[in-house]
This record gives sequence, structure tokens and C-alpha cells, in this order.
Amino acid sequence: MTLIGEKVVRALNQQLNRELYSAYLYLSMSAYFESLGLRGFANWMRVQWQEELMHAMKFLDYIADRGGRVELFAIEEPPKSWSSPLNAFEFGLDHEKKVSKFISDLVELSIAEKDHATFNMLQWFVKEQVEEERSFGEITGKLRLAQDDSKILLLIDGELAKRKFGGGE
Ligand code: FEO
Repeated sequence: MTLIGEKVVRALNQQLNRELYSAYLYLSMSAYFESLGLRGFANWMRVQWQEELMHAMKFLDYIADRGGRVELFAIEEPPKSWSSPLNAFEFGLDHEKKVSKFISDLVELSIAEKDHATFNMLQWFVKEQVEEERSFGEITGKLRLAQDDSKILLLIDGELAKRKFGGGE
């Protein structure tokens, strides 16, 4: 029983893989921050890793709910280190902008395929990407202002230590 077109299933499986890559990327950033002794930053990235796993599972569950076949492709190896905390956040912000573009392409596909259920499911991600770009953008902005001031960096680290995974609803 298939309730969903093959073209849409293929694209959703690709996005599932990208969300898993995002999780892997932020786990790698968490390890990078841990290696610098910035445990607040490491915590923030670990929460981000959980968020991305939740995104991946939303795609996986949706594909299965619609009678599509879930496929798990190889996950690309993420970078291991960055030149500075600012550089890591700039990388993350760029990554989120790319994800937003992929979500937008998926929305376009759902319209072209007249797949209203997929269109509707994707609206959650359209909203979520605004939040993703905002949170990466905000911290990137603070790190730009801090420049190399280690006191400010430690203040930001203390702030980021407070982030907790909220389950993502
Ligand atoms: Fe799953 Fe960061 O977008």
C-alpha cells in the first residue's frame, strides 16, 4: 500500500539523511568545543544534536505513516575542527541556510506533485528553519562582537550551558 508518490518518498529520504548529517555535524562541533574546554558551547551543540535527531525522526515517521519505504543512506563524515568558536558558528549558520533551501525545494516539490499532506507536514519545518537560523545567527553575532575577548567568551559559555532539550514541539 503506497499512499505517497515515489518522487516525494525519494526526496523525503534524502532529507532524512541530511537531518542525520546535521546531527552528526553538531555532535562533532560539541566534541570540538569540549576539546577547547568550553563546556557550555559543547552542551549547546549536544542539545542541537538531539534536535536534529528529532527532525530526522519526524521525516522517518512521516514516510512510514504514509506507506513509503524508509531508506537509510550513508552519512557523510563531518569536519572535526574549526579555526575558532566564531568559525564553527558561521559554519553552522551557513549549514542551516542550506537546510532551509532544501526544505523550500521540498515544499515546491509537494506543490508540483499536488501532495497536500506532505505540504502540510513541511510547514512545521518551514517554521523551525526560521528558528534554527535565528539561534545560530544570534550566537554568531555575539561571537563577532566578542572578537578575541576571552572574558566575554566565558560569559557566553555560561549562558549556553543552560540550554536543555525541550523535545522540539
Ligand atoms: Fe534540522 Fe537544523 O535543521
